[in-house]
Amino acid sequence: MNRLDLTSRPSQPLHGSVPVPGDKAVSHRALRFAAIAEGQSRIRGFLEGEDTRATAAALAQLGVRIEAPSPGDRVVHGVGLHGLRGSPQPLDCGNAGTGMRLLTGLLAGQAFASTLVGDASLSKRPMRRVTDPLTAMGARIDTRDGMPPLHVHGGRSLRGIRYELPVASAQVKSALLLAGLYAAGDTEVIEPHPTRDYTERMLAAFGWPIAFSPGHARLAGGHSLHATDVEVPADFSSAAFFLVAASLVPGSSLRLPAVGLNPRRTGLLQALRLMGADISIEQSRESGGEPVGDLVVRHAPLHGIELPLELVPDMIDELPVLFIAAAAARGRTVVRGAAELRVKESDRIAVMAAGLRALGASIEETPDGAIIDGGQLGGGAVETHLDHRIAMSFAVAGLVARGPVRINDCAHVATSFPGFMALANGCGFALRDAG
Ligand code: S3P
Repeated sequence: MNRLDLTSRPSQPLHGSVPVPGDKAVSHRALRFAAIAEGQSRIRGFLEGEDTRATAAALAQLGVRIEAPSPGDRVVHGVGLHGLRGSPQPLDCGNAGTGMRLLTGLLAGQAFASTLVGDASLSKRPMRRVTDPLTAMGARIDTRDGMPPLHVHGGRSLRGIRYELPVASAQVKSALLLAGLYAAGDTEVIEPHPTRDYTERMLAAFGWPIAFSPGHARLAGGHSLHATDVEVPADFSSAAFFLVAASLVPGSSLRLPAVGLNPRRTGLLQALRLMGADISIEQSRESGGEPVGDLVVRHAPLHGIELPLELVPDMIDELPVLFIAAAAARGRTVVRGAAELRVKESDRIAVMAAGLRALGASIEETPDGAIIDGGQLGGGAVETHLDHRIAMSFAVAGLVARGPVRINDCAHVATSFPGFMALANGCGFALRDAG
């Protein structure tokens, strides 16, 4: 990836319609299930991001033919549950934790061995959360001190387990359910807080018998998946930057069409409303079994809140941009129960705190969150630590800062939101290449 530094400056009110790209989590899963289904599946609205393309490339290495008739469109020729073949080359998951953890689950029960690698950020992320329970299922996986690269040994017979997740994680849940497809007996996952249930919903849509309810999922091995077309909704996590931006910039009004509104993803909507935001949902409907709607956001003065603990898992990827909203709001915001932020693409508590401090904000880091006193942000330079969501969060900060905000190392924005700069500038951001 070539280095990209950006500057973000205050600009005019934000206006227009912002069609954010397809959901990353749904795109990752749709590819995997289509790959091991019987027959041909079509995925529309597929996210053309680096993360999801890395998944497509890995599946191609494993012998799956995937066509891309046009951007956002994939035709996957499923090879069936036992049709994958081993790759002599390592599978490169790039920056994607979801990519690597779900693939590890899928590969744990294959007849062949695989090696999974990632970039500098992914190579520092904890993998024992998946390798430990997969080992309990009978898999054999070598790690580098609990981190990538991972070597998944082939030819192991898996057996289902009942597993209580120590931390709420849809990635771990999904990895175990994927391994469970290949296991003898039942695989049952119990979560401390319910997380996004795309894996469960999509397995059901591909015809695999599965019982699930919030915080619980159970399936048995030995069935098959049938090709299914998938309509990917727009990614709420990408819409989030525009929800905060339009809330903060006086005179703004934006429409975000056809955004996925799965309740396990929309904690930020509730948090922003508690802070005084003016966000409505229009044209609520179902698409591909998921609730979607157009989000309409208008400027409104925001005030600080004690973020309700139960919202945290439903907005785990949106906390960086909530920190920006809090830093620009009136009064104090307290975030607790978010220690997981420390093991995302970067340590998002430390990196957001450092960046906000560089802009003159008052923020106190705590082990599992932060205490932020809102006020006027200043200009300055911030580091993203190769984290796409940090980069986009500070692009929003620049809209309301007194001076330009320089954001160093923004190329990773393309992992989840290709075209962010053009869409942002199209609705009124002043986001430029810093050269
Ligand atoms: C994801 C789950 C979350 C989230 C990530 C995507 C998924 O991670 O942060 O961006 O698609 O399952 P955890 O499962 O680690 O919480």
